[in-house]
Amino acid sequence: MIFLGIETSCDETAAAIVRADDQDNAPAEILSNIILSQTEDHAPFGGVVPEIAARAHLNSIEGIVKKALIIAKTSLKDIDGIAVTSGPGLAGGLIVGTMMARGIAAVHNKPLYTINHLEGHALTARLTNNASFPYLLLLVSGGHTQILLVRGVGEYERWATTIDDALGEAFDKTAKLLGLPYPGGPQVETAALNGNPKVHQFPRPLKGRDTLDMSFSGLKTAVRKAAQESDNLNNSAISDICASFQTAVSDVLEDRLARAIEKFTTLYDRPSALVVAGGVAANSEIRSRLQSLCEKSGWGWVAPPHILCTDNAAMIAWAGLERHRLQIPNIDEGIKPRWPLDQNATSKIGSGRKGAKA
Ligand code: KG4
Ligand code: ZN
Repeated sequence: MIFLGIETSCDETAAAIVRADDQDNAPAEILSNIILSQTEDHAPFGGVVPEIAARAHLNSIEGIVKKALIIAKTSLKDIDGIAVTSGPGLAGGLIVGTMMARGIAAVHNKPLYTINHLEGHALTARLTNNASFPYLLLLVSGGHTQILLVRGVGEYERWATTIDDALGEAFDKTAKLLGLPYPGGPQVETAALNGNPKVHQFPRPLKGRDTLDMSFSGLKTAVRKAAQESDNLNNSAISDICASFQTAVSDVLEDRLARAIEKFTTLYDRPSALVVAGGVAANSEIRSRLQSLCEKSGWGWVAPPHILCTDNAAMIAWAGLERHRLQIPNIDEGIKPRWPLDQNATSKIGSGRKGAKA
């Protein structure tokens, strides 16, 4: 079975072709994975500008889909289905992607799957590592910070969320406060390499509390204060702030995930795997802290390659394939800029920059 995936929910225009056997649990193959990033278009504004994003998707979607087909050496008539992100995300981009997918599905008479972008992230570990249900997912990106229990395709329980800023947003804001360019995550990580994490005792919000939720806005305020109080904000001072910030974040994540693992064990009485996804999952300190937590707990650790942790269309094609194999009927409800993966989870104040995007 061959699926075309299309992703346009934020600032990447992406298309991919994924092939899998029609039996469950058979290994899949990514035949092409084309991603056109708009980061440079948005960088001067310090964040994603919706109008610029929509226009850029419109200008490039056709070429990106063609390229994905050419590299995969296939054609629209040979694919078995199309999967497209229909939410959550920025409305303009979602419209461009879903209109394209609907058009292809109608003209070539192929099944269409409208996919929740977060489901794409949640199921990536099955595409890359054949992860078996149930497992825990830490999704940390510019728009979302969540711990999810992934029980099966379409079965997700949100165990935790940020109650204010998304973690990627906290990295980006920290970078901005220190005069580092956007996107800030990689800049903060690089600066932290030369810094001393003990120079600033930044808060570890909600750490040790009897909740799995997270909060990062207090940490951001502490960074601002440290930057203002520094008499000479040179490279070395910036590095110390970045290192102290990154260590505080890692402490919080380790604490929350240790609790989530405990909660999982009381429910299932056995270990499973922790999967990470989202741009922040590229951070080496966070990765190594969580990996050693898994080793200590006898848990599996799944960190898909960076290109599949950040936004891509292979994860969308894969989610469509999984749904198709299970014969889950698709309900096309149009675009859904807000679309929680766990419909039963209560919404928390401000769970991310764009409020809806991972
Ligand atoms: O999943 P993603 O690529 O897309 C969106 O959220 O749209 O995540 C981007 C976020 C940005 O906030 C970026 O600063 C952060 O991921 N990020 C990182 C690192 N690389 C990217 N944060 C910390 N350390 C990194 N190495
Ligand atoms: Zn995402």
